[in-house]
Amino acid sequence: MRYGTRRFRKSRLVFGHGTSSAGEEAAYLLAHALKVRPEALPRLLEETPSPRQRAAALRLFERRVNERKPAAYLVHAAWLGDFRFYVDERVIVPRSHIAKVLREELAPWIVEPLEVRAALDLCTGSGCLAILLARAFPRAQVDAADISSSALAVARINVKRYGLGARIRLIESNLFSALGGKHYDLIVSNPPYVTAGGMRRLPREYLHEPRIALAGGRDGLAVVRKILRAAAAHLTPGGLLVVEVGAGRRRTERALPYIEFVWPETGAGHPVFIATREQLLAAK
Ligand SMILES: C[S@@+](CC[C@H](N)C(=O)[O-])C[C@H]1O[C@@H](n2cnc3c(N)ncnc32)[C@H](O)[C@@H]1O
Repeated sequence: MRYGTRRFRKSRLVFGHGTSSAGEEAAYLLAHALKVRPEALPRLLEETPSPRQRAAALRLFERRVNERKPAAYLVHAAWLGDFRFYVDERVIVPRSHIAKVLREELAPWIVEPLEVRAALDLCTGSGCLAILLARAFPRAQVDAADISSSALAVARINVKRYGLGARIRLIESNLFSALGGKHYDLIVSNPPYVTAGGMRRLPREYLHEPRIALAGGRDGLAVVRKILRAAAAHLTPGGLLVVEVGAGRRRTERALPYIEFVWPETGAGHPVFIATREQLLAAK
């Protein structure tokens, strides 16, 4: 643990794919080498690893430094809360702040989770949010759409692992284009939202992620604007739109002053907004 942490600090690695420091990243890789969940690690730290475990950990540490790949890609596993997902470089590493509001079944905005019958995860990537939707709203049929067929191949692996094939439909679609006239009680989306300037300055770790999953146009809000224009036509009366914008509340409100968003407590800078179908219609 100590060796990995020091080595990562010295090599000036960048974190943000499920971990936020050299110590956490070393722990993540070490846990994988020891074949335990990351939270089980503290009670093992006084024990001596076998030569094979030590070699496996050192191999992962070296790859992390030399390849500059986020740990999740090296071990093909990412955690969102208590949920583990298969990942590879066809999708971004799951870290959406929307997971936080789904953990609470979107209370108090959704009063009765069992009444959510149709939900959509737009820009589904690995399928992580579609799976959290299916778990939070047990009576919902979930559509999971992405423009990238290779991302959908990863989503298929995760949906199968969670045994949710009967409840989650994977659809190749440029935003709403392949969804026909379908209406949803709830739409969530973590779209690409990195600004053009941000894309030029991306640390090496982020260059392993698909560009199409990150690039959000000049101000980062190009895809968000398209979603806002089309969402009301796909929501049932009283339906909710939940979108992650990354840039945070201030910048989004300045760019889109005509919509009264709600910004739940999901993280620093309030990266997620909620709007109702009626607010979106009024803004039109
Ligand atoms: C930021 S990633 C989010 C992935 C996943 N929902 C998550 O939270 O980890 C954005 C995803 O949007 C997809 N995407 C980009 N443009 C799109 C479009 N016009 N229509 C549908 N999906 C799109 C990308 O392929 C990528 O998988």
